[in-house]
Amino acid sequence: MTDRIQQIRAEAEQAITTAADTQTLENVRIHYLGRKAELPNLLRTVAELPAGERAATGKAANEARKALEAAIEQRALQLAATELEQRLERDRVDVTLPPDPGVHIGRLHLITQTRRELEDVFIGLGFNVAEGPEVETVYYNFDALNHVPTHPARLMTDTFYVEPGEDIFDPTTLLLRTHTSPMQVKAMERQPPPLYIIVPGRTYRPDNDATHTPQFHQIEGLAVDTDITLADLQGTLLAFARAIFGEAREVRLRPHFFPFTEPSVEVDVSCFNCTNGITAGGQRCPLCRGEAWIEILGAGMVDPNVFEYVREHGYDPEKIQGFAFGIGIERIAMLKHDVPDLRLLYDNDIRFLEQFG
Ligand code: DAH
Repeated sequence: MTDRIQQIRAEAEQAITTAADTQTLENVRIHYLGRKAELPNLLRTVAELPAGERAATGKAANEARKALEAAIEQRALQLAATELEQRLERDRVDVTLPPDPGVHIGRLHLITQTRRELEDVFIGLGFNVAEGPEVETVYYNFDALNHVPTHPARLMTDTFYVEPGEDIFDPTTLLLRTHTSPMQVKAMERQPPPLYIIVPGRTYRPDNDATHTPQFHQIEGLAVDTDITLADLQGTLLAFARAIFGEAREVRLRPHFFPFTEPSVEVDVSCFNCTNGITAGGQRCPLCRGEAWIEILGAGMVDPNVFEYVREHGYDPEKIQGFAFGIGIERIAMLKHDVPDLRLLYDNDIRFLEQFG
């Protein structure tokens, strides 16, 4: 009987080692150790054997069962590990493959692109970027910028006041800033000269047509130091014009009026679409209307009256000078990219926006 047990054991051990997968191993287990298998049956009937054989047979059968169980358990672990490895290999994802379908990557809005481009130019020239609130007081938006009480920009028709019916001459009355210039005085209150800042941001006026939207964007520039002259302003704006519109550009300053600069100028850039107002095709240039110059911004030397508002912060108009300028971001974007209607920038039509960037 023990011979038979050894035979079963050897056969089963052979089957266990050659079982190639978990399922086959399970079949082997059922075949040799399952309820109907020979070895367990033998164990169950040991008691019926002649007394002389009982002990030896029982021992051999028990040992064989234990050995097979252990062998199966060990083989099961081996097979599980290999199968896991195979599955990982099979299911591996190559994260470097391009997605299918491809993802649609967005882009920056043309106004944001233009703002960043302008910021980069002025940061390169040594200016710092400062930001201010869009809800301002009459004081910073008008009074401290030397606007006389009768200045037309103060009218309800030209400015969005936050609470209609409030006293528009009260310095504390709130409005949506009509330009980024209020940050001039605010920045000087915070920091003594020398001061070199640009202030990008949203501005608001009740206008709405092909060249005006109620909300638009400006970049203010302010430089205050000793020995600042109009030539510094001109050089700064020439560098800006060439960086944005091309190395061959020139700028010219025309006399103008702004309440907070004296003298004030309007700045033109030489047209980048024509020569002397005539296009390559011999037509009158549609961009500059044959003028050869395009108006791009307002600027000037900071009016000493403005410095009076911040004299106690280190701005003595006898000792320091400054220049300031205000750029319309939409205007630059439209000129540079030939956008015919300002409202296109706010319609959010993807077919328009996709053309840029
Ligand atoms: N704030 C003016 C506007 O919105 C633009 C401007 C003109 C800004 C002259 C300046 C400046 O800083 O010096 O029309």
